[in-house]
Amino acid sequence: MPIQAAPARWILETDHTAYVFGLNQAGLLTHCYWGMRLPRPGDYPEPANPVFWAADGAAHFTPHEYPAYGGLSYVDPCLKVTFADGVRDLVLTYVEHELSHAPQPQLTLRLQDTAYPLRISLHYRLHEAYDLIERWAELENLGTEPVLVERAYSAKWTLPPGDDYRLTHLYGRHVDEFHIQREPLTQGLKTLESRRIIPSHHASPWFAVDRGADEDTGKVWFGTLAWSGNWKISAEVTEFASTRLSIGLNDWDFAWKLLPGQPFTTPAALAGFTPHGFGAASRALHDYVRDTLLPHGKTLHKVLYNSWEATLFNVDEASQSALAEIAAEMGVELFVMDDGWFHGRNWDNAGLGDWWPDEVKFPHGLGGLIHKVNRLGMDFGLWVEPEMVNPNSELYRAHPDWIIHWPGRARTESRNQLILNLGRPEVQEYLISVLDRILSENNIAFIKWDMNRNASEPGWVDAPGDPRELWVRYVQGLYRVWETLRQRHPQVIFQSCASGGGRADLGILRLADQVWVSDNTEATCRLDIQEGYSQFLPANTMEAWVTDADKGRVPLEFRFHVSMCGSLGVGGNLLEWSAEERALAAACIQQYKELRPIIQLGDQYRLRSPQQEQFSVVQYMSKDGTEGVLFAFRVHIPDYARVVKLPPVHLRGLEPAWLYRVEGIAGERSGLAWMETGLTLELENMHSKVLRIKRI
Ligand code: DGJ
Repeated sequence: MPIQAAPARWILETDHTAYVFGLNQAGLLTHCYWGMRLPRPGDYPEPANPVFWAADGAAHFTPHEYPAYGGLSYVDPCLKVTFADGVRDLVLTYVEHELSHAPQPQLTLRLQDTAYPLRISLHYRLHEAYDLIERWAELENLGTEPVLVERAYSAKWTLPPGDDYRLTHLYGRHVDEFHIQREPLTQGLKTLESRRIIPSHHASPWFAVDRGADEDTGKVWFGTLAWSGNWKISAEVTEFASTRLSIGLNDWDFAWKLLPGQPFTTPAALAGFTPHGFGAASRALHDYVRDTLLPHGKTLHKVLYNSWEATLFNVDEASQSALAEIAAEMGVELFVMDDGWFHGRNWDNAGLGDWWPDEVKFPHGLGGLIHKVNRLGMDFGLWVEPEMVNPNSELYRAHPDWIIHWPGRARTESRNQLILNLGRPEVQEYLISVLDRILSENNIAFIKWDMNRNASEPGWVDAPGDPRELWVRYVQGLYRVWETLRQRHPQVIFQSCASGGGRADLGILRLADQVWVSDNTEATCRLDIQEGYSQFLPANTMEAWVTDADKGRVPLEFRFHVSMCGSLGVGGNLLEWSAEERALAAACIQQYKELRPIIQLGDQYRLRSPQQEQFSVVQYMSKDGTEGVLFAFRVHIPDYARVVKLPPVHLRGLEPAWLYRVEGIAGERSGLAWMETGLTLELENMHSKVLRIKRI
């Protein structure tokens, strides 16, 4: 039984881990255990019965499973409300639980305030094979007066008692996303968040906590939030060495007017534990995303060409056809026309909102280009940025009230654009009808959905509830538009882009199959970005183009090898590529097609970190362990190192007893030997290698 519910204790077991909580003698819902699965129920700790201390009562000492703001407790709460009479005290008591077993084991606990008719349901869903637990909360107002919700996190994750934990998180900026930061957790509160209406380039809704783990060994507790808007992670270490992480909607500028009969559900938080280091933590999330979330599951992604860096806004049938012809010769399978194709769009200062082909650039519509691309044997894809308007657009002139703004205040533009309020049903309907028409009238296999600014002046005067609901209703509206389009056009592959990797999360990956990971397409930077992205998201979702950004500085083969580590694309100006360059590109694309099932769907092992080392290596193994591929990159190592051999590379993920051969390295060896004694590569500065691994 994956979930055991004793009268006052709940044991949740996945294939290898367990998560336990129960009611203590004071009736408080108390976290007990999160770690390895133990042989017997009696092995798990019972809920602690807190002691009283002069300045801190029992409630403060209790590691609450889902603490509310109220009573004598000073820990960071998950839930904070104001009742209609102004009371801001919420004390939750356990009422009942409910178990269900399909499609996954699920437990729901119902709690209620001691005095007011507010019900909280805590949901737990087990993803046993991935050793992951999914949690979310539902709030119901059972009274007659509205309740103002000021904070509603999805979960609090409590770590085993003790200190010396380290927090790993991701930070960055536009064109420089996904840096890995590892730092000690010390007493106090460390907060990571987005306040930008998208998850942002600046931080990612993901964490890992360890006590001295590395890629292959050591205990790691990790988690993420399936939400594409403002989020928050708070890591708190109390004065008594209790470490807890909260994750959920950001409560900054947030409020939700909870009306009777209209429940509020938080986004889902997902977390797991592994004793096998950061690599295993990443692979658990990779598998979960690929197997259960992505709309097209494990469908292999086509090698695409994207026009953006080649033609910017100067797209028309002739320019795109010329690129398409070369792309097809090189083996590209999907041709994507980026920005610039729609009404009035000659630069970034006009056109957004007017989603029909520009009459000058495409006098006969998109049909001619699409036919041409299809005749060349490729699918056709199109860029859109539906959430945005330029003030210089027909849509804005018709509906200036549709954007996020405060009346009488400045509407600050960013990249000359304003944001449509997707919380408004009429905006959702408009976008659904416009995009549905484009997809219905044209043979479009792929949509790149872009979003190129962050929110400002977050006003919504005639909001249905509290105007601060905007941050949440916007994302709910966005999901509704995507969901509707997906239902009507299920074959279309969607890519999530927000000036690169600003919207990369498990919420959007229920709707999009891919992410455009960064506007930085320089291969050496990309190595770092890709390593950070891989902490929580799998390689098949990671679209990676070879462009001209570092042409002349980095060999074309190196640039291809970097992009081949994800879902390969090309984005350079092919008209300027020499015959030799095109031939090399064709060879790399062919090689990628042979390797892509392993890269896109296999297990990823980060053997040497590009963020830490000048010589980095990443390995992918097929799920059955019979074949793999190793990518090695040497950036720049000073001269003295040329005479010294590069450090050995120890393979991972091989079956110890099987015999393997590694391309370019003499000899057959057991899997255990390749993993224990490793291999040594010869590689010059700014060179790369792709080596196949095969079971004999
Ligand atoms: C930002 C994206 O990240 C780019 O790839 C490109 O699509 C531009 N927007 C187009 O405006």
